Amino acid sequence: MDMENYLNKNIKEIINQFPKIADILNEYDIACAPCNVGTCLLKDVVEVHNLSAEAEHELLKKIATIIFSGKSVEIPKIKRKVAHAAGQIKYSPPIKKLVDEHVFIKKLLAAIPVMLESIDVSHAEDKQIILDSIDFIRSYADKYHHAKEEALLFKKFEDIEIIKAMLEEHDIGRGHVKAVIEAVEKKDNQKIIERLTAYRELLKDHIKKEDDLLYPWLDKNLSVSEIGELFTKFSGIDKQYEAASQKYEGFANKIEEKIQNKEVLQND
Ligand SMILES: [Fe+2]
Ligand SMILES: [Fe+2]
Repeated sequence: MDMENYLNKNIKEIINQFPKIADILNEYDIACAPCNVGTCLLKDVVEVHNLSAEAEHELLKKIATIIFSGKSVEIPKIKRKVAHAAGQIKYSPPIKKLVDEHVFIKKLLAAIPVMLESIDVSHAEDKQIILDSIDFIRSYADKYHHAKEEALLFKKFEDIEIIKAMLEEHDIGRGHVKAVIEAVEKKDNQKIIERLTAYRELLKDHIKKEDDLLYPWLDKNLSVSEIGELFTKFSGIDKQYEAASQKYEGFANKIEEKIQNKEVLQND
């Protein structure tokens, strides 16, 4: 097996076989070891991080040293479909819409720890705030936002392992949400805390990956006509969900405000 073979292997397999590679990736801010999915191919992971040619070569050399125990091997250059400039990210208009939606989702995620601090769903008010948050997650984060990603944007890159991993994270998130709803019915506060916290961790990382890495990379790999088509389709969805999205964005703003004023869940 040469280095090229390893580039086409999935990251979890490589890290399992050579745990030190996780530390090397970390040096380059590539945090693959804690990933929930781990099916991304090494070459895609490196490509999406958009390192300079020198840094990429240096990183692959370090990885090769571990894999081939110091034996000198040829370091391939990863083929990039499109190179993109590092530095300030400039999103295309349809991708910018998704980034803007993340802002509201992040407001809810930020509120979760305070919300859970003294949660007791046998109190009607506590129960309501959990149910309202779940409603936001299902209707806004999932149906509205993830629908744009799943049905339109990610559809164009379906055969890429990174996209499959992102879709799997959406599914893991749905699993957490389902478990929270069941726990509310059973008044199981501990389970609510566990699964809502897990959801928050998952989605926080997921959104960061999309904003910082995946979206800029997808953007550069979309043609002008594809960007136009996405914009038209996203605008159609926005129109269809106009009233609902305004309501949920208002909810996220309100919950952010409440958290800042520490008004959430003050039962004694
Ligand atoms: Fe996503
Ligand atoms: Fe997203």
